[in-house]
Amino acid sequence: MKSSDTASSMIEVDNLRKEYADGTVAVHDLSFEVGEGEIAVLVGPSGCGKTTTMRMINRLVEPSAGRILVNGKDISQIDPVQLRRGIGYVIQQVGLFPHQTVAANIKTVPQLLGWDRTKSNARVNELLELVGLNPATHAKRYPHELSGGQRQRVGVARALAADPPVLLMDEPFGAVDPVARDRLQVEFLRLQEQVRKTIVFVTHDVDEAIRLGDRIAVMRDGGYLEQYAEPATLLSEPSSPYVAEFVGAERTLRRLAVVDVAATGLVKWPVVAPTSRLADCAATMDSAEAAWAVVADDGKVSGWLARAAATGEGTASDRVEPAQSVEVGDSLESALATILAGNSPGAIVTSAGRYEGVLGGAEIVTMARSR
Ligand SMILES: Nc1ncnc2c1ncn2[C@@H]1O[C@H](COP(=O)(O)OP(=O)(O)OP(=O)(O)O)[C@@H](O)[C@H]1O
Ligand SMILES: [Mg+2]
Repeated sequence: MKSSDTASSMIEVDNLRKEYADGTVAVHDLSFEVGEGEIAVLVGPSGCGKTTTMRMINRLVEPSAGRILVNGKDISQIDPVQLRRGIGYVIQQVGLFPHQTVAANIKTVPQLLGWDRTKSNARVNELLELVGLNPATHAKRYPHELSGGQRQRVGVARALAADPPVLLMDEPFGAVDPVARDRLQVEFLRLQEQVRKTIVFVTHDVDEAIRLGDRIAVMRDGGYLEQYAEPATLLSEPSSPYVAEFVGAERTLRRLAVVDVAATGLVKWPVVAPTSRLADCAATMDSAEAAWAVVADDGKVSGWLARAAATGEGTASDRVEPAQSVEVGDSLESALATILAGNSPGAIVTSAGRYEGVLGGAEIVTMARSR
């Protein structure tokens, strides 16, 4: 669950079109925006223009029409080499250099940037740790001495090497088995919590898109964008029968009624006591970058407090909004209903009457699909 909606747009794609020399229209009038620190996922069938879109964002392919802004600047005005320094690219099928060690692969960009050896070596170790590989055992290996999942991780480490604000990831987990993929997804989300990059992520896999994306662009053949929305919106309000079918909206909605709220998978959300001073409540929310907090007294929930209401004198109890909480074991449908009814911004979950955590729309959808 995202803490706040204050993200400004880091990538803006406006009416983008790509027609290749042979007349193939790979991308047709595509527009979408990605907020700073957000993950946007492009999903759609093979050949629908996902890779072409990525390659236009780092100017490996020039658009036939339209424009792309990165951090407010039109990229057609930026030197491509300069542009790419700020954009890490994990290419489809990994694309590690086979005759170079893992360390050398990761150092590619730092070396181009002229970093000294000590600094690049330190960065290699730091990045390997970050992606869950032991530097002592892996830095000197060659790509063919790694498993598929390990290669994917090295690809991610290489893209992160120069700490670019933007990452393009083209099916980074496409070549691994479902178990390894599951693990890579979990690690990827944990990594993103730490590095907070602005990411465009491509996948064929709708479940992966829903799990990872803050927003998802559903594309179809011919490079058309069908819908660009948050995962929960795609499922609850698909813009067309194509999208509904593609994201499996009906299946997910049916599952909401039969799957229960579990204690695992809840988000640990800021909690304030009813007696807390509003200034302290504001500080708690700000340090968690949360737009609201749960108000609970020793585990007993009395409601929620908006960040915007936490100003001036007084305590949380003066401004608390009453909220109906849901119990572990209630249906996910009832949790979603409390949000949709405007009861609270996220479903507040209790276990045996005591506060456990919070579920946002995205977590509800993930729970419905994963169990
Ligand atoms: N250099 C090229 N010249 C002509 N057509 C191309 C070229 N590169 C890609 N295409 C075509 O553009 C369309 C989109 O290709 P793209 O690689 O963007 O698809 P994709 O969505 O990434 O597919 P996949 O999921 O299989 O990777 C396809 O029809 C492809 O054949
Ligand atoms: Mg592709």
